[in-house]
Amino acid sequence: MSHSPKILIADDEPRFCESLRLLLDGHGYDIHTSTSGREAQALLSKHQFDMALLDLAIPDVDGLELMDYINLHCPDTSVVVITGNSSLDAAVSAIRKGAYDYIRKPFAYEELLTTIQNALNQKKLELEKNEIHKKLELSEDRYRYLVQNSPDIIYTLDSHGCFTFVSDSVERILGVESSHLIGKHYEYIIHRDDLEKAKWTFNERRTGDRSTAWIEFRLKSFMGDEEEITCEVKNICIELKCTGMYEKQAPGRNETFLGTHGVARDISSRKRLETQLQQAQKLESLGTLAGGIAHDFNNLLMVIRGHVSLMFMENTCSNSTHKRLNKIEDCVQSAAALTSQLLGFARGGKYHTEPINLNSSLRQTSQMFGRTKKEIVILEHYEKKIWPVEADRGQIEQVLLNLYVNAFHAMPEGGSLLLATENVSLGKSSERPFNLASGNYVKLSVTDTGIGMDEKTQQRIFEPFFTTKEMGRGTGLGLASAYGIIKNHKGMIEVKSKIGTGTTFVIYLPASEQEVKNNEIAYDSILKGIETILLVDDEDKILDVQRDLLSSLGYTVLVATNGKQAIKIFDTNPDKIDIVVLDMIMPGMGGGEIYDALRKIKPDVKVLLCSGYSEAGQASEILLRGCTGFIQKPFNASELSEKLREIIDKSG
Ligand SMILES: Nc1ncnc2c1ncn2[C@@H]1O[C@H](COP(=O)(O)OP(=O)(O)OP(=O)(O)O)[C@@H](O)[C@H]1O
Ligand SMILES: [Mg+2]
Repeated sequence: MSHSPKILIADDEPRFCESLRLLLDGHGYDIHTSTSGREAQALLSKHQFDMALLDLAIPDVDGLELMDYINLHCPDTSVVVITGNSSLDAAVSAIRKGAYDYIRKPFAYEELLTTIQNALNQKKLELEKNEIHKKLELSEDRYRYLVQNSPDIIYTLDSHGCFTFVSDSVERILGVESSHLIGKHYEYIIHRDDLEKAKWTFNERRTGDRSTAWIEFRLKSFMGDEEEITCEVKNICIELKCTGMYEKQAPGRNETFLGTHGVARDISSRKRLETQLQQAQKLESLGTLAGGIAHDFNNLLMVIRGHVSLMFMENTCSNSTHKRLNKIEDCVQSAAALTSQLLGFARGGKYHTEPINLNSSLRQTSQMFGRTKKEIVILEHYEKKIWPVEADRGQIEQVLLNLYVNAFHAMPEGGSLLLATENVSLGKSSERPFNLASGNYVKLSVTDTGIGMDEKTQQRIFEPFFTTKEMGRGTGLGLASAYGIIKNHKGMIEVKSKIGTGTTFVIYLPASEQEVKNNEIAYDSILKGIETILLVDDEDKILDVQRDLLSSLGYTVLVATNGKQAIKIFDTNPDKIDIVVLDMIMPGMGGGEIYDALRKIKPDVKVLLCSGYSEAGQASEILLRGCTGFIQKPFNASELSEKLREIIDKSG
């Protein structure tokens, strides 16, 4: 204590008081004396005493009453009772009331000094203890606040693996109250597929002072009624850091394992995003592969189809050859349908986009489908003033039919198919599915009451050639092409499904500002012409068949097998050549570069681009630069003749 300890002496004998004052003054104490109880009370109410030396047999106020007063009003004042032989009982009562000690008259001064010093020391220790206790409480409060307000789950387990503490965040993350977990084994909340990993992690903590950083586990979710089903549908994925707790022993003895403590962070949404990204990247690379294959196949099919068209046009073959040619044409058409689906998946199949009304597409396709599948009840729930979407009608119908056929296969005993549309405005990123750009969308959903799919199947359905159908029943291209088509329309398709309950496919397509028009064009006649065409393609087989096709349509054909040659020919006859039929992908100079060079020679040159890829991507860029038209391989004579006339007859 830095100040002189303040001591109150209360004794009815003034001389005794005085002699004590003289003695204690000399030892550095600050002494106040009183010869009656009232006087003592008045001093106590005025000063803060470190100690009171009380004679219990004091006038006015009983000594024990004075003790009560001190206990109530001056709890930090230590009391030593001075007593004669006769009042020993009162001294004992005073000690019961909290006096530090008593001292009997007559006493030796040394005894008094020692007792005073001891009492003051003890008081000092008590005060320090209280101070430490307060600090401890404060720090505990602070830690409790931090732990309970942490977004992570903070916990301790005993040496058997039972919870001794879990922070409240567990309720938000798992849907179970922290108090419910106390005393329960950690296995209670671990997903069954991760139990072994959890056991290993926990047991390893016994073997030394180790900790594990950010190991991943799946936990059960207790949200909803049926715990098991919810677990299947919604796993909670956490990242865990845990450390063993040990009691320190004397050197040379093993430490005792007390349990573990750890922090678990919910990383479910990060995981979901990672999976979505991986899925999208996988589909992207499969798309590149599928697109490449489809392109090469289309070139081969072009040659076959061209020759078949020529043979038909020559009209010299016998009846049976005619039949065989028809069969070849059929096969080529099926093969072309397959490559077109592959191209659809490869996001290369956006041909003619126009503002369309999705309600009409759903109505028309579902009527057509419903006519043949009577066992399926079709329910429709459409947005009344649906926004138009800019889309390829044929492709969207292809997507819808794929979804209906899948639904039909999922409902072998019959069931219902709910078709719904809705206008939606996607705003803040947290509300947008799959990071679609913000804006207006039309949301279309196709829901069946069929067999549903497990999570593993759902993760793979958009992959090309993924099918659960038996050999010959499905190619596994339906949803792959649907995925590509919707992505190509800057939309998104997703699936929600539960085994035994059914499946919903949800499609978002960006809304368009344009109005819906009706313009159906039919192509089935062969139109001839007399103009001059420059045909540019690097593949001899294609060049041959196309030259023959064009000649038989009446055109004069000039050919070039590469860009340089094409430019040279065009440069010498710019006014004689009415149209250039230009392959888009060629070694050296590609279609785009050739187009630009031709335009320099004749700015209004008419060019029909053709490719085994589709109009999206490179071709659409060239078209945007002013190129007149596009046709996708493999085409037949009638399609080519239509396209040529459309371009040649266009004024300007
Ligand atoms: N509505 C649905 N209900 C249950 N499972 C479905 C549903 N739609 C698709 N699937 C599953 O997704 C798989 C892939 O579908 P996808 O349409 O891509 O190919 P497919 O129907 O098997 O063959 P394809 O459409 O090429 O003839 C199906 O084999 C099936 O397992
Ligand atoms: Mg299908």
